[in-house]
Amino acid sequence: MTKLKYGIIGWPVKHSRSPQMQMSAFQALNIDARYDLIPIKPECLATGIKELITKGYSGWNVTVPHKTNILPFLDETETTAKVCGSVNSVIVRDGKSFGYSTDGYGLQMSIKESFSIGIKGKTFLFWGSGGAATAVSAHFVNSGAEEIILVNRTLEKAQALKQKLQVVSTKTNVKIYHPSQISELASVTKTVDVIIQSTSVGLNTEDPISIPKELLIPSLNLVDMIYSETILLRAAKKLGCNAIDGKGMLLHQGAKSFEIWTEREAPVKVMRNALKS
Ligand code: ATR
Repeated sequence: MTKLKYGIIGWPVKHSRSPQMQMSAFQALNIDARYDLIPIKPECLATGIKELITKGYSGWNVTVPHKTNILPFLDETETTAKVCGSVNSVIVRDGKSFGYSTDGYGLQMSIKESFSIGIKGKTFLFWGSGGAATAVSAHFVNSGAEEIILVNRTLEKAQALKQKLQVVSTKTNVKIYHPSQISELASVTKTVDVIIQSTSVGLNTEDPISIPKELLIPSLNLVDMIYSETILLRAAKKLGCNAIDGKGMLLHQGAKSFEIWTEREAPVKVMRNALKS
């Protein structure tokens, strides 16, 4: 049998940790496969995808800036991913491409693992309403979250995300705040189950803190979707919050992609160790 081909597309893509994680899983299960870093310029996305199919790729992950733009070039996309317009995993079956989003599942598992909190009936506050929040919040609505609170400096973007979420389900209550509404947010944060920092603030080490310290009360459950330890995480831990970075989400979204591709249970322990090394 020929070697199976998988990979990750993005621009840039060279910093991705997915190859080490996915290769460890293929090796652990004795699957003869490779996982490539595939840089594709935004303007070359359509041809890039055709090429992947011609070259016999069985599937691939999708990272920025292609998560939304890839949708028109796929044959089919899972409903939740389609509504929010975000795909991070593609599988090819009989030459046809199918898009999925496993980011929300990844975040769900990370929250469950670290805080023992499920989604159903719970309240989540997303700090930010850009691509990262969009990619995961639809899964939270789909999984029965009681309330989603969106906090964003550009209210129109939060409004647009709210509309998308309400297409997924009207059962989840969605509220919007501007980050300047500190006193309202101070009472809101006392009642939320988890705060999820989803802005890009903190990606650069010289960035200011993304969420004001006044809101970081002891015992608050906080996820910063950024993979490294941000100034927010350091402050939150000091103030007694239960705070985690985005590595757990990275692990579990990758595990789910692996399961979609192989239809086998992902060796999560092996993948976690590979990410650590
Ligand atoms: P994307 O393409 O994923 O939307 P982005 O433009 O970096 O990426 O924005 C991601 C999120 O970070 C958004 O919620 C954005 O807020 P706006 O919608 O108001 O632009 C937020 N964000 C980016 N820079 C920010 C900053 N300096 N302060 C506050 N929020 C910021």
